[in-house]
Amino acid sequence: MVHFSTAALVLVASVLPQLSQASGLDTAAVAAGKVYFGTATDNPELTDTAYVAQLSNTNDFGQITPGNSQKWDATEPQQNTFTYTQGDVIADLAKANGQKLRCHNLVWHSQLPSWVTSGTWTNTTLIAVMKNHITNLVTHYKGQCYAWDVVNEGLNEDGTYRESVWYETIGEAYIPIAFAAAAAADPNVKLYYNDYNIEYSGSKATAARNIVKLVQSYGVKIDGVGLQSHFIVGSTPSKSAQAANLAAFTALAVDVAITELDIRMTLPSTAALLSQQSTDYASTVGACMETDGCVGITIWDWTDKNSWVPNTFPGQGAACPWDDNLVKKPAYTGILTALGDTASATSTTTTTSSTTTTSSSSSGSTSVAAHWGQCGGLSWTGPTACASGYTCTYTNPYYSQCL
Ligand code: G3I
Repeated sequence: MVHFSTAALVLVASVLPQLSQASGLDTAAVAAGKVYFGTATDNPELTDTAYVAQLSNTNDFGQITPGNSQKWDATEPQQNTFTYTQGDVIADLAKANGQKLRCHNLVWHSQLPSWVTSGTWTNTTLIAVMKNHITNLVTHYKGQCYAWDVVNEGLNEDGTYRESVWYETIGEAYIPIAFAAAAAADPNVKLYYNDYNIEYSGSKATAARNIVKLVQSYGVKIDGVGLQSHFIVGSTPSKSAQAANLAAFTALAVDVAITELDIRMTLPSTAALLSQQSTDYASTVGACMETDGCVGITIWDWTDKNSWVPNTFPGQGAACPWDDNLVKKPAYTGILTALGDTASATSTTTTTSSTTTTSSSSSGSTSVAAHWGQCGGLSWTGPTACASGYTCTYTNPYYSQCL
């Protein structure tokens, strides 16, 4: 017969309420009243079993965004020939996992096929092309998207309109026309304007608010503004600056969402940079938490292994909350704590009749790996045991995971 000491029983009693709290990013976000915490993903990554396992972990991710496969070059490579195969793969994964889908995007200056950028258009013919694209995509994904990024990155840094084929041919009216076409195709999906460097006050944020007012002045529905939030470690705007800026948007009767959060650094990463990165992630997440109309947060992929950053900014990277080996970085704890789940962010505690062991669940340098954590594989030097209730499961020679 096992005898529990008084001290152990007191500890069990104090730990149980914590263990019953949220155990992941989405769980914590929803518990705090948000609609989701999510991540971008992309089709090439879906051949990676370990990657898909964590992508499908709905404790952390209640929402996913296709990083590329709903863009114009992927969906209408030739005029009026629509290909949804790749986008459907991600939509189907979200559906199978019970995750919300943020759909991205309908009208952008980038990743356009040459038939669009090199075409000879009039105001009338380009409006028809744009409306046809929007109507087809929104209709195809009707009922599957929580939100669409209808217009993406329509502004320059100084707040003037970007010189895209859309603006040059149609003028600013392309924006309300695009929103109207999307609303006509699916009256229930949330319609967003999405951009970067609008996360703090300045000309560009002011111009983004003017876009909201422009669409509203046409009597057309706009539900939200997406703040991409591609930041740099140590240069991320403060929580109060971001919260004040979010409030300026929600004052216009629209929702806001953090849509593409990542925080890059100059490599190699150091403990100090990773600590600052955690603080910076918490600033953005905390600003959303302080804002009633901020519906959710999406990171622009969850692991450094698949981040867009090193391809675009040589010498920079390590921008995501999980590292190249799919191990949680300090940023994970920073986010979870900012979401309000302090207890499970800081420790996983297991209690036995005679011993108590406490180990961090957010670091790869501990003796026990948390649920979904790596617990083995060639060259793996981290924990080989799993937290109570999980089994170290062989995936491939390079990776075993606590499932
Ligand atoms: O599909 C081709 C492939 O056929 C070719 O072999 C390969 C060679 O480089 O390129 C592939 O295309 C790449 C594409 O991603 C799909 O993987 C492009 O080169 C690459 O430039 C493109 O990058 C994407 C980028 O948008 C394009 O602007 C990133 O993956 C994607 O994460 C990024 O996402 C954007 C958001 O949509 C809007 N906000 C900024 C954000 C980051 O740039």
